[in-house]
Amino acid sequence: MKQETECLIDNEQAVESHVDFANDHDNQIDNRSGNKPFNDFLKTDLKRRNLLKGGAAAAVTGFVAGMSLPNEAIAKDRDYYDKLASHWRRRRLINFTPVPVAAGNGPVPTISDDYQYEVLIPWGTPLEPHGPEFSYPPTAQDQAQQIGIGHDGMHFFAQRRRNGRESNRRGMLAINHEFGRTPHVLGKAFPETIEDVRVSQHAHGVSIVAIEQKGRYGGWQVSDSKDARRIHVNTPVDFSGPVASSELIRTPNGNIPLGTVNNCSSGYTPWGTYLTCEENFNGYFGASNTASAWVPTEAQARYGFSEDGFGYGWHLFDRRFDLSDEDYRNEENRFGWVVEIDPFDATQTPTKRTALGRFKHEGVEIVVGQDNRIVAYMGDDQRFDYIYKFVSDRDWREMRYAGVSPLDEGKLYVARFNEDGTGEWLELTIDNPILAARFESQEEVLTFARLAADLLEATPMDRPEWVSVAPNQDVYCTLTNNSRRTVADAANPLAPNNDGHIIRWRDTSKHTGTKFVWEIFLIAEQTHGTEESFSDPDGLWVDPDGRVFIQTDGGQKDGLNNQLLVTDATGSKISRLFIGVTGDEITGITVTPNRRTMFVNIQHPGNGDPAVTNFPAPQDGVTVPRDCTIVITRKNGGIIGS
Ligand code: FEO
Ligand code: CA
Ligand code: CA
Ligand code: CA
Repeated sequence: MKQETECLIDNEQAVESHVDFANDHDNQIDNRSGNKPFNDFLKTDLKRRNLLKGGAAAAVTGFVAGMSLPNEAIAKDRDYYDKLASHWRRRRLINFTPVPVAAGNGPVPTISDDYQYEVLIPWGTPLEPHGPEFSYPPTAQDQAQQIGIGHDGMHFFAQRRRNGRESNRRGMLAINHEFGRTPHVLGKAFPETIEDVRVSQHAHGVSIVAIEQKGRYGGWQVSDSKDARRIHVNTPVDFSGPVASSELIRTPNGNIPLGTVNNCSSGYTPWGTYLTCEENFNGYFGASNTASAWVPTEAQARYGFSEDGFGYGWHLFDRRFDLSDEDYRNEENRFGWVVEIDPFDATQTPTKRTALGRFKHEGVEIVVGQDNRIVAYMGDDQRFDYIYKFVSDRDWREMRYAGVSPLDEGKLYVARFNEDGTGEWLELTIDNPILAARFESQEEVLTFARLAADLLEATPMDRPEWVSVAPNQDVYCTLTNNSRRTVADAANPLAPNNDGHIIRWRDTSKHTGTKFVWEIFLIAEQTHGTEESFSDPDGLWVDPDGRVFIQTDGGQKDGLNNQLLVTDATGSKISRLFIGVTGDEITGITVTPNRRTMFVNIQHPGNGDPAVTNFPAPQDGVTVPRDCTIVITRKNGGIIGS
């Protein structure tokens, strides 16, 4: 970068304690850009209930009222949207008996009376049936052949049967292992040896595991597969796209690129691969200062690096994670990417797709846009950080036919939400004079995408988490919370925003354009004290019928544990399908092709404390709780959410 100045940005972040960083890993602000494009805040109608109680048609009117439409196509869409909304009303998409608020917050889950669940692949389960059994704490060698911890984003890749149809009973589950606190993983507060660090590193990453249904109504279990594999912090990886041959990801030591970490949410491509997203990678680095005194660069500060990280202590035993070790300069630039994995080829090297930019990737939602170009929507989950999208240069099939990944050539954009309900996608390109004045190359723009987005005055959001595209092409994004917001704007209308909201927008030119219209879909605070109570929306999926599944991660109100809820595009009724266990987070959502089986995750049950819960083991007060996947079916065999 042209004006590399040290520590321009006040690196205020907490050097979070070893004990409580886990639930608070996004509780820092690294955006000091002062982007406040909407200081003259226009009053927004926060009364969702008033807006939506009038029914879907009123909601639609709300969507476009008073806007200068950026594109005629959107006006035409309005008709379509009206029709679809009345269609939804007629079909009564959601008919199950919700779990009442009174079911509350126990040490075991509660599910709707119309549904049932079973537990699959707790942390430490052998990756294949005859692999090493779980023992606590695990050895590094065993952990590399077992399911990791911190179950998060995932996707079920159905096996193709001989007739070409996708199976609903057998497939590969690709699952992220976001994080595991050291006390939970190792049974001690801090690593003492490199072996301890390796256990922790092997507990992170991704599992590709074969699963199949043995019984008629349930009975899912792990099966053998040549494609099963663990990808962790020490697995060789490749780089692809504009940054692949850049000096920015070379170290003086010349070590080959290894690993993926803090894999939060995920996505999948039309060509059948899994995309895992690196979120709070900064927390695994620290500075021993034994090699040289470490002072963060501006870029390091903007990405939240600090002397102690999140307290994992890896840097004290593994030089790769020591920011003060000159031999490993730039190692940190190798993290913060979207990584592509082939779930049906264990020999494939996981590939970091640099065209999608480097930031704290929550997840990625892929949709096929105009001219069959690939569009990837992505949130950067930190207070006051941004929403991005990537658009491939050409038809994805043509690109693949020509031997080019559709995720390697294209443009990256960042979102600006205007006060009047319109928005713009700002291109992150070195061709822009504002960026050219600051950066040397497109490689720098992508590697330091946060700094580039700051300069374009993107809209600082209240922690963008998951994105999901609805069947009518509306794009939904959860904004989980932001207790430090002091100035509201139309897109982030609460200051502080303690409980989060969900926004939705629609792009011009079938996702490939640079304009959009947007509206607030739900504000969590407005559900409190009602049977629809939820806070901190995080996981999100809109199914092909328009059901909106919401998963929560944070302190719920009204005495609730974290939960899975279902609503529709009107948002007028929110039904609770599942409540997790005390101290957990509900995350990860994927289904079999017929949508009769759903997989969701229970992450950090009891925050790892056996005095809180022993789930999924019977409650005995001593057994260590284990992150796990929950398999949900409807008792009548119906579509999940119905
Ligand atoms: Fe890993 Fe933003 O949740
Ligand atoms: Ca999340
Ligand atoms: Ca979260
Ligand atoms: Ca989490």
